[in-house]
Amino acid sequence: MSILVTGGAGYIGSHTVVELLAAGYEVVIVDNFSNSSPEVLKRLKTITGQEPTFYEGSILDKDFMTKVFKENQIECVIHFAAFKAVGESVEKPLMYYHNNITGTIALLEVMAEAGVKNIVFSSSATVYGMNNISPLTEDLPTSATNPYGYTKVMMEQILNDVAFADSQWSVTNLRYFNPIGAHESGLIGEAPNGIPNNLMPYITQVAVGKLKELSVFGDDYDTADGTGVRDYIHVVDLAKGHVLAVKDNLETKGAKVYNLGTGTGYSVLDLVKAFEAENGVTIPYVIKPRRAGDIATCYADPSKAKKILGWQAGKNVHDMVRDSWKWQSQNPNGYQE
Ligand SMILES: NC(=O)c1ccc[n+]([C@@H]2O[C@H](COP(=O)([O-])OP(=O)(O)OC[C@H]3O[C@@H](n4cnc5c(N)ncnc54)[C@H](O)[C@@H]3O)[C@@H](O)[C@H]2O)c1
Repeated sequence: MSILVTGGAGYIGSHTVVELLAAGYEVVIVDNFSNSSPEVLKRLKTITGQEPTFYEGSILDKDFMTKVFKENQIECVIHFAAFKAVGESVEKPLMYYHNNITGTIALLEVMAEAGVKNIVFSSSATVYGMNNISPLTEDLPTSATNPYGYTKVMMEQILNDVAFADSQWSVTNLRYFNPIGAHESGLIGEAPNGIPNNLMPYITQVAVGKLKELSVFGDDYDTADGTGVRDYIHVVDLAKGHVLAVKDNLETKGAKVYNLGTGTGYSVLDLVKAFEAENGVTIPYVIKPRRAGDIATCYADPSKAKKILGWQAGKNVHDMVRDSWKWQSQNPNGYQE
């Protein structure tokens, strides 16, 4: 029996494949490389000594996906494949709704036809919207401020409805906080196309000389230093959370939701200072106006995942900034030569 990982060549997916293989699972990856590179597969082989079965194609292609399910004995799907850039989702909403929502519905239809009714879904802390107060617990109301966020709110709803309609389904919505860091080998990591949306790749690209300076959006928030506070989590801890979530998903039925965060918030400037101190580099930055849709503070209450999945983040901010820099400094252009 295998775990199908959609988007398994991506940032979080590739780290999760490493942890699944280490835990003894057989893995099948589907990815269309819309935001990743075939080089990832070579690096996965170097890290793990194993070569998971790989299919290049889109989750939107039902004939292709039906073939994947026919050719493999899949017991559970971890579904990462999606577009994830908030700004781009505002510019190209239909592209986002199509890939993230139509794509997931197509996947669920193929799964139902194949009789595979176990899915772990990549949701996000973005579903907590603008109005909830941290620490955020899973029972709070959800909302969104942009098309990307709406795709996550809607997909959680669709998955919950599917599990409600058919008690054979086991659905796990994992709400990630802010994944950063990279595998300790420095061989895989986050490799965004163009100007990064997220803070850490922005910092590392300034550090490596690809970008002149960091833009800090807002220094007048109601936080200790005025900059936004987020719950950064090491991507390897996040990946390990998926291994435990798969186990729980296979042992239970119905819809479940878990926060995957550390429970601790760091401001933008905290992270910049930690990066500079750990890695001995300077990050020049400029203060820019606040970005629409950004909130002051967002961090998890991770106690439910600890209690039920037995999962807890083990790595600290030093590990995160060190491993992010190791990846970027070894791979200044990401996976491109
Ligand atoms: N990185 C974050 O900060 C973050 C936070 C919360 C949630 N998430 C969610 O986690 C998931 C993974 O994020 P990531 O950071 O690894 O992103 P990523 O872009 O690195 O990985 C996504 C992968 O899916 C692939 N893909 C996209 N559309 C596809 C399709 N139609 N068919 C097949 N493959 C497709 C891409 O090529 C890529 O390899 C996404 O669903 C994202 O929304 C990410």
